[in-house]
Amino acid sequence: MTNFAERVLTWYDQHGRKHLPWQHNPTPYRVWVSEIMLQQTQVATVIPYYQRFMASFPDLPMLAAASTDQVLKHWEGLGYYSRARNLHRCAQVIRDQYQGRFPTDRETVMSLPGIGRSTAGAMLSLALGQKQAILDGNVKRVLARYHAIDGYPGQSAVQQRLWQYAEQHLPDQRNAAYTQAMMDLGALLCTRSKPACLLCPLRDGCQAARQGNPHDYPGRKPARILPEKSRFALVLRNPAGEILLEQRPPTGIWGGLWSFPEFPDRQQALAALTAQHPVADLHELPLQVHPFSHYRLKLQPLLADLGMSETGIMEAGRQLWYKAGIEFGGGLSSAAQQLLKLLENH
Ligand code: ADE
Repeated sequence: MTNFAERVLTWYDQHGRKHLPWQHNPTPYRVWVSEIMLQQTQVATVIPYYQRFMASFPDLPMLAAASTDQVLKHWEGLGYYSRARNLHRCAQVIRDQYQGRFPTDRETVMSLPGIGRSTAGAMLSLALGQKQAILDGNVKRVLARYHAIDGYPGQSAVQQRLWQYAEQHLPDQRNAAYTQAMMDLGALLCTRSKPACLLCPLRDGCQAARQGNPHDYPGRKPARILPEKSRFALVLRNPAGEILLEQRPPTGIWGGLWSFPEFPDRQQALAALTAQHPVADLHELPLQVHPFSHYRLKLQPLLADLGMSETGIMEAGRQLWYKAGIEFGGGLSSAAQQLLKLLENH
């Protein structure tokens, strides 16, 4: 056994968690349900949910036969409800395609709904003692610190290195205990903000502890610097106080929502305006900044008060005169919502 695994197991025997509900009678079914519940939720929160779930669905056939509503009811308050839907679907797949027995090879387990590589590894290791690695958030932190792995674990190269180390450290025996031990080490000692290095069985070999900077690992997700786009919005108001809205194309930002006619620069906005309307008055409203996932939109609204009653519509069907406070069947872009509120308060 590697020195690493030996230290981890010795620590586990003295300090690890051994009485969590899913550790009693750890069948693949029981371990699977617990791992799915624990994916995004703390142990203390999961325990009562797990107990109620097992009381209602003690085995895989009972879960497969339940209605989705019954399963979701047991998940109420846990969040990430796709987990419950996948769990239910997965039970039905196992019933219908695997004679009701959990597959025992990792590739097949990973092909089931809602089960990734780490969850598959945890199940096969904890329930069947297979020599399988896991790499959940806790284990990533332990390994990134132990080996001083730079970079953010979301990057595939970093992830690959972490998996390599996770597999390299696996013991030939006591794999279930080792898997639980690694999770416990991460959850109880090697915590994100207060690592208890003085109590850690891996301290001697830990590069981050030696460097004195465990907090630097794992690397944080790099803050993305978003490119900026500048646009000009024409806000046309008629003497009745109505605002001209335009429906956006079905794809792209605010797809299908109602917003203002938008232009790449001021000249084009002005040209479009003066081609249609004799304008009395034009002024800038406060610049809006809209962060999207791939860029920041800086939108400069230009308010034009039209002198006479306007009914002329530039593109029939895609434009309408909107009166604040009047029920409107369409959705408004956040640009329009902000501006309409601003104009109302003026
Ligand atoms: N998180 C995921 N699996 C766990 C387990 N078996 N015990 C404690 N925390 C966990």
